[in-house]
Amino acid sequence: SQTDKELLYKIHEVANDFFQEQMFNTDEGKTIAYSYFKERELRDEIIRKFQLGYSPEQKNSFTEFALEKGYSKEILEKSGLSIFPENSPNGIDRFRERVIFPIHSFSGRVLGFGARILKNNVKTAKYLNSPETEIYHKSQVLYGLNQGKQAISKNNLCLLVEGYMDVIALHQSGIEHVVSSSGTALTVEQIKLIKRLTENVTILFDGDAAGIKASFRSIDMLLSESMNIRVLLFPDGDDPDSFSRKHPQDYVEKFIKNEAKDFIDFKAEILLKDAGSDPIRKAEAIRDIVKSVAFVQNALKQEVYLKEVSNKFGLSEQSLFNELNVQKQLQK
Ligand code: UTP
Ligand code: MN
Ligand code: MN
Ligand code: MN
Ligand code: MN
Repeated sequence: SQTDKELLYKIHEVANDFFQEQMFNTDEGKTIAYSYFKERELRDEIIRKFQLGYSPEQKNSFTEFALEKGYSKEILEKSGLSIFPENSPNGIDRFRERVIFPIHSFSGRVLGFGARILKNNVKTAKYLNSPETEIYHKSQVLYGLNQGKQAISKNNLCLLVEGYMDVIALHQSGIEHVVSSSGTALTVEQIKLIKRLTENVTILFDGDAAGIKASFRSIDMLLSESMNIRVLLFPDGDDPDSFSRKHPQDYVEKFIKNEAKDFIDFKAEILLKDAGSDPIRKAEAIRDIVKSVAFVQNALKQEVYLKEVSNKFGLSEQSLFNELNVQKQLQK
């Protein structure tokens, strides 16, 4: 309901202040969370800009705080920030002993949180995110869009990265036209949010198997929505965060500009590396590329891309065109 929604927005604001307060103004927060961000080389201004925080170890610190402020158990449960099991009537916080990344709407309201463990070896999910609530629909939100929207318009380009830290680290390097779908596969709704600002996207995913897989999927999604795309994987297991901390800003900017490829060159490079000289594997790679071309919405663009494939592999346009039509039928 509308009143629930207003309360949920309010409670997220309260929680956001609470988590920041815990990080900056408690001994536990300072020694555990603030120092964690310092180890990751974040400057104070960027920690403040992204309103990073900390959820304490105590199992119901936020819940207790919110109940004292007069929020009901019911609304706390609806917010996804607390649960009230039978055997814990005082409630349990969803986020405990984690650093906190608030997730903002396009206009800047806090809708939910991402939360990271402090030590990598712990046997639990590295990031925990808010569940779906009446105000948080993860398929309709992009992390960093609020902080990056002006830069995206100004650059007429949106960089798409995998994670929270990638968005933040690029901002710290002065690269602000960046968003992340943060743990969910890119959705049509998310692409439509970008499209309000620009039709140009450069995918900058991690250079591991998961990153490659996600980039292939994102390429087809973005092509279906008529976006212009380029793709870049970072070398040697780097992601935008680790890469931007190794190199100065102008190097990172040039690297992105120069190394980003169109999707055909990108897919060809990856798929042919696997295929070697095996003709069957090579044919599979070409079919995979034509499959992506089939997602291109504009007939003229489609033909230009097919020409590129034809030149690249020395195949006739006619046979590629036949394959394209097969793929288009399969997509229906
Ligand atoms: P990555 O595994 O690439 O992590 O996940 P990362 O962002 O580089 O994390 P750091 O640098 O170790 O802190 C990319 C994104 O996928 C989501 C998060 O949004 C993360 O930023 N994710 C990852 C989850 O939601 N849950 C997980 O357990 C892991
Ligand atoms: Mn809704
Ligand atoms: Mn990754
Ligand atoms: Mn990563
Ligand atoms: Mn990372």
